[in-house]
Order: sequence, then C-alpha cells, then structure tokens
Amino acid sequence: MDGTAIRKITLRMKIAITGANSSVGLNLLKHIVSATDINVIAGVRSDRAMQSLPSSPQVDPRIISYQDPAKLAAALEGADCIVHLAGILIEDKNTSYTSANVDATEAVVKAAQQLGAKHMVFISVIGANKDSSNAYFRSKGLAEELVRNSGLAASIIRTPILLGPNTAGASAMIGAATQPKTKILGGGKYSMCPLDIDDLNQAILNCCNGDSSDAKLYELVGPEPISYRDLIQKVASMMNNNVEIGSVPIVIAKLVAAISSRIKGGGITPTVIDVITMDEVVANNADGELKITLTPLQKTLEKILEHKKNK
Ligand SMILES: NC(=O)c1ccc[n+]([C@@H]2O[C@H](COP(=O)([O-])OP(=O)(O)OC[C@H]3O[C@@H](n4cnc5c(N)ncnc54)[C@H](OP(=O)(O)O)[C@@H]3O)[C@@H](O)[C@H]2O)c1
Repeated sequence: MDGTAIRKITLRMKIAITGANSSVGLNLLKHIVSATDINVIAGVRSDRAMQSLPSSPQVDPRIISYQDPAKLAAALEGADCIVHLAGILIEDKNTSYTSANVDATEAVVKAAQQLGAKHMVFISVIGANKDSSNAYFRSKGLAEELVRNSGLAASIIRTPILLGPNTAGASAMIGAATQPKTKILGGGKYSMCPLDIDDLNQAILNCCNGDSSDAKLYELVGPEPISYRDLIQKVASMMNNNVEIGSVPIVIAKLVAAISSRIKGGGITPTVIDVITMDEVVANNADGELKITLTPLQKTLEKILEHKKNK
C-alpha cells in the first residue's frame, strides 16, 4: 500500500472505527497515523483493548457499547464514515455469532442512521449468505442484509482469509510452517485466495472517500489462489525450514471439535472447520472497482516474515 496515495485522497476526513483493536483495526490505525491526516474515533469495548491502540493526536479512543444505539451514536458523533470491523469467527462463552456479528451490526446501523453518517463500511466474508446452513456465514449474511436495507450509503466488502502482521490466519500459517512436522485439516487441499491486510485497508479508505449514494457489495480476494498445503510449504521454505505435512481427516477433526467445543462452551467447532476448509472462489474480483493494486502473495509473505523477525 502506498502511503503517499492515501495522504492525497483522505485529507480532512473523520472516520469512526468499531472493533478498533481487531487485527484489521490496528493495521488500519497504523496506516492512518503514519500516512494520512485522517482523524479517527477508535471504538473499543474495554480499557484493556484501549491500551493496544496507537497513541496519536489523530486517534480519539473511546469505550463503546453495542447495547444502546443512541449512546453508540453519541460516541461516534462527528464521523463522516463508520468502518464497522467488530465481528468474530470463533464463539466463546461470552460471545455468539448473533451478538457479535448480527446484533452489533444492527446497533451500528441504527447509530449511523441516527447521526447521519455519510457512509458505512462493513467487512463481511466470502461465502456470507443469510440462508446458509453454516451459522457463521448465516450471521454475516444477516448482517449484510441489515447494512444493505439501512438506506445508508454503504460498502460491504466480503474478504477471504486475511494475511498481515497479527492476523489469526498469519499466526496459524507461521505456527505450522515453523514445525519439523505438522498435521493440517484434510491435508490442506482446499484452495485459498489470501488477501493482504494492507490491500483491504486501502480499499476501506477508498470506500470512505467514495461518493456512492447506495449500498454496494464487493468481493475482494488476493491475486493468487493457493492450496493451504502449498502455502505452508512456501512459507516454510522462505524460512529455510523443511516441514513434513500430514493430514487430520476433516470428519475426525469435526467430531473432536463438536465434543471439545461443547465442553468448553466455544472454540473450534464443526462450523469453524467448514469455514476454514471452504474453497475461496469469487466470480469477479473487486480490486479494480475498489481502485486498489493487489499485493503479490510473495510480497505479503515477505512482509509478514520481516515483521516476525523484528518483533
Ligand atoms: N481475519 C480474517 O481473516 C477475516 C476474514 C474475513 C472477515 N473478517 C472480518 O473482518 C473483521 C475484523 O476481523 P479481525 O480478524 O481483525 O478481528 P479480530 O482481530 O478477531 O477482532 C475481533 C473484534 O471484534 C470484537 N468483538 C468480539 N465480540 C464482540 C461482540 N459480542 N460485540 C462487539 N464486538 C465484539 C472484539 O472486541 P474485544 O477485543 O472487546 O472482544 C474485536 O475488536 C471482522 O468482522 C471479521 O469477521 C476477518
């Protein structure tokens, strides 16, 4: 992502970010602070989350709650664009798909309507569908519908697995690639189209700066399809590691996940395994429409390994 380009297009804009402490949010804040003049309301749910935000005169950290849309609107007051990032793939005892993905989006939509936001950006997922039998895809599909029917000018961006420093996908990938031997779901035969988190954040800023008056849906994936197995091999070889990749049969993994998630009240479930092992395919990639140049996968991986080395 070219920081100079961002500076040119985003002067004097104020945006509000929900889930600002998420991996996408922290990366977005880093770029905003280092390469733009944008002012940001960074919404998080706790003091602990607030500690993770960058300290900058451009960033106004606020504790927000999704229980009361009027209070939420007051907390996000003054924002031209609301970037709604809060959302989960993995449920736990305290957080369900309904509360994190659907109810939180409903509250943000209501708040955006109340404060008269000019634009809303919502990050969804490839495969989102309100009629899906998969609870995660269904929750993201229902959230998309709330945004689409809101009457707000909005950009809904469906993404595949995101790769960048501190994304869950990158951590799992590096974790597997650093081992001498690893076992991955179904031998990692499923096809992924990893998207560089910097490219997503450039797309988000372009949407904030856009002038559309209705709700638009984009499917944005990375430039290169690759099986998860090949991805692990590639990263391992970039780290000069020789990894032997074995397979955990998906049926067995789902059975174990069903039992352990019931005992723990969350974690990896059969639903999550279905999401992870789905082929990430789109009919039309929205990189052109979103005016971004996709980062080659090799470059994305180099950036992640460089970040790991400097940590
Ligand atoms: N990472 C990916 O590969 C990927 C792929 C496709 C789509 N996405 C979407 O992109 C967005 C950002 O993803 P990410 O991976 O950066 O997220 P992340 O790092 O996992 O952070 C999740 C965020 O959601 C908040 N959250 C959790 N439960 C919540 C609830 N019940 N109500 C409101 N907020 C809640 C968390 O706040 P607390 O810290 O307070 O819990 C945190 O800010 C999400 O909407 C995600 O679904 C991500």
